Amino acid sequence: MDEASKAAAAVSERRQWERLMAMAAIGGFTDPDGHRGVNRACLTPLDREARRLLLSWAAPLGLAPSVDALGNLFLRLEGTDPALAPVLTGSHMDTQPNGGRFDGIWGVIAGLEAVQALREAGVTPRRPIEIVAWTNEEGGRFAPGCMGSMAYAGFRPRDAWDAVTDREGTRFADALREHLAEEADIPRRPLGVAEGPAPFAYVEAHIEQGPRLEAEGHDIGVVTGIQGSRWFVVEVAGKTDHAGTAPLSLRRDAVQDMLRAITALNALMHDPEDVLRFTVGSVEVSPNTSNSVAARARFTIDFRHPDNAVLQARGDAVRGVVQAALRACTAEVTERFHATPVAFQPLVPEAVERAAAAEGLRALRMPSGAFHDAQFLVPVCPTGMIFVPCRGGVSHHPSEYAEPAALAAGARVLARTLAALANG
Ligand code: GLV
Ligand code: MN
Ligand code: MN
Repeated sequence: MDEASKAAAAVSERRQWERLMAMAAIGGFTDPDGHRGVNRACLTPLDREARRLLLSWAAPLGLAPSVDALGNLFLRLEGTDPALAPVLTGSHMDTQPNGGRFDGIWGVIAGLEAVQALREAGVTPRRPIEIVAWTNEEGGRFAPGCMGSMAYAGFRPRDAWDAVTDREGTRFADALREHLAEEADIPRRPLGVAEGPAPFAYVEAHIEQGPRLEAEGHDIGVVTGIQGSRWFVVEVAGKTDHAGTAPLSLRRDAVQDMLRAITALNALMHDPEDVLRFTVGSVEVSPNTSNSVAARARFTIDFRHPDNAVLQARGDAVRGVVQAALRACTAEVTERFHATPVAFQPLVPEAVERAAAAEGLRALRMPSGAFHDAQFLVPVCPTGMIFVPCRGGVSHHPSEYAEPAALAAGARVLARTLAALANG
């Protein structure tokens, strides 16, 4: 048996599943339908508890931990040539507020499983392998997502989000400072390519979060690229009034103008081919009471498309369309996330494809509809992703589920991919 096959054979379905379930208990809850979800926001005590658990599994394997200025956490398996650029693998450990047990965390646990399997198979790769847990991929507590990977890649400066606040008014800078103080015992490392060398390659394992692999009977998604995303927040300002007395003609009703704006945006985002994704996922109204006219309404826009020309043109039109739709209020439109579509260069997807073939798995080349930290690694080094099917394509929900055997197959593909890249 060659080294990669030995490593794949050493992947333990049971160990990986038990670790996932142990992680799912940190921030875990059961929803009214009996689904077991996770709410583990970034830079919270729960996030830190999960990271400590990860560190407790990494220590007996001799993996060296380090953390950078954004709180990105790394675990390093030394290579026979430590001077070589490492192969990087991982994902994120934070969840959506009503999140599932697999989104993100599986990529980190799969990295650990693959590295442990390499160790147990007696494989010492030439290049170091580093497992990374990126800070704030979800953007659920502090918007936008992917802050850790964006800063790592030099896409935005490290202080770009200092003033962003969560719902309680806590500033990102303060949450990060507190977090880093709690992790003062972990050695600090330079922040990404702004302060250090680039990795040799990056590969991220993730549940598909869509229905294709399951519906079409594939075991592995060989991800070819990621569509583009733009996030906006719209703040509509009107005037509050008594619901029983103020004539409609005199009102400056923020909810009514918000509805006009969303209706106009639906027309802007209309796509007969059903490729475009447009979501208003968060709405806040103030003062939020039945018998008062709303003085303020705030809503978010999540807009995605694989074609950069469409992403640019329609995204750039958002502001004007909102302004033109208003009848009595004013509105401020702020863009807070802009990830252009990326295509992965062949090195990593080809390694993933070969690994899946060696495992006898049915693989499908496919793009990603969800964004991932991998999106920001593309300019930094050859990048790719491994998808595994998830039930019904459901994600960002407590009913998110992936079979233990499917996750083990994904970890075997990851182990082979890492072995190939780290000896390449
Ligand atoms: C990632 O969480 C996404 O929203 O695509
Ligand atoms: Mn994710
Ligand atoms: Mn997610």
